[in-house]
Amino acid sequence: MLSPKSFPFIEATLPIIAERISSITPNFYNRLFAAHPELLDGIFSRSNQKNGTQQQALAGSIAVFATYLVKHPGTAPETMLARVAHKHTSLGVAEEQYPIVYKHLFDAIAEDLGDALTPEIADAWTEVYWLMAHALIKIEKGLYAQQANAGIYAPWKLVERAETGVDSVILSFEPADGTPVTVAKPGQFVSVRMPMADGLRQVRQYTLSNDVEHARRTITVKLDVNGEFSPVIHNNLEIGGVIELSNPYGDLVIDNEGSPLVIATAGIGCTPSAAALQTLAAHGSTRKITVLHADQEITTWPLREQMLESIGKLPGATLSTWFERGELPEGLNAQSGYMDLAAALSEDAQVYLCGPLPFMNAVRTQALEAGIPAERIHYEVFGPDVWLAA
Ligand code: HEM
Repeated sequence: MLSPKSFPFIEATLPIIAERISSITPNFYNRLFAAHPELLDGIFSRSNQKNGTQQQALAGSIAVFATYLVKHPGTAPETMLARVAHKHTSLGVAEEQYPIVYKHLFDAIAEDLGDALTPEIADAWTEVYWLMAHALIKIEKGLYAQQANAGIYAPWKLVERAETGVDSVILSFEPADGTPVTVAKPGQFVSVRMPMADGLRQVRQYTLSNDVEHARRTITVKLDVNGEFSPVIHNNLEIGGVIELSNPYGDLVIDNEGSPLVIATAGIGCTPSAAALQTLAAHGSTRKITVLHADQEITTWPLREQMLESIGKLPGATLSTWFERGELPEGLNAQSGYMDLAAALSEDAQVYLCGPLPFMNAVRTQALEAGIPAERIHYEVFGPDVWLAA
């Protein structure tokens, strides 16, 4: 809860900070990496720096958090904090790093606002920072404590590799040493850390798509020929090769029973739902489940066989598909064009979305327009959550 002393200063300066924060965060990251270049080796993604999405996500999260303090005192944006905390813990972010981020963020704010930043305003925003930092640190400590080991990464050996869809590959790993393995929940992800051509390590998060309840990790990686990470994992990793995987994180977890479930995915976004459907099937779930998937064409749909097998075992599940081109396949309730969510929605539906941002924007709007409240629309964004700013 914001102190009575800070409240009026935050209320008065929130519009200006919310407007300026997007130009402050690039300056913050420049300062941070100049002072701590080691943070670019295996923690921060340089692609997300280059395309600006991480700056956007950080700016958005600060604006959302401060708005909550002013408009909904005594509450916190739990979903957003949980999302950031799960991402942080998968990267090994530590409590000792929060003062470092504070210093460079506030130096950047001071430079941007100049004389307009009075000591009272600076103190009030310092309070906001530490309220947010302590909320994150608390969740992060809890998440670290749930793991079977105290490490961030452990070595895992590639034991199986199979092509799926177009340009996607399913990779299965087994532990390469005796580090105790945390049992993952369906829908969770791991961070994958690998050295790039110049020797610097980069990290990406991948949803676990299979065998989530066993001491095996399976991920599905779509090749982005213009990307930095996926070509390395596609081209440099052979059976027997060892890479670093983090413990599993992520709170987009689907329960076996409950109100009707609508799972709407596009392209590679089906990986979390493929894992969830497999687990629901293994547990004999009778939940009413509507699976909607959109793809370019039938052959580009990754994990298709796995998903169809799981859906076949779920008595309450139905499937509809949309394809942009190619011949429509038989038996998959296939239509051409873009996904239409309306027919699948009932009043009490829980909606799960995963896919590219334009797709999610479109289907989220459809769900909201159909009267589904925002808290029942869950989504997984691959990459920094730039929706936080919305
Ligand atoms: C990611 C906020 C402190 C390292 C993020 C994201 C947000 C965020 C919103 C994006 C999450 C997503 O992927 O959707 C914050 C806030 C902080 C804070 C508000 C302080 C109150 C820290 C600290 C570190 C850190 C102390 C440690 C150096 C990272 C890293 C990522 C990240 C490495 C992923 C970046 C990437 O993939 O490019 N943070 N963070 N953060 N944060 Fe923080």
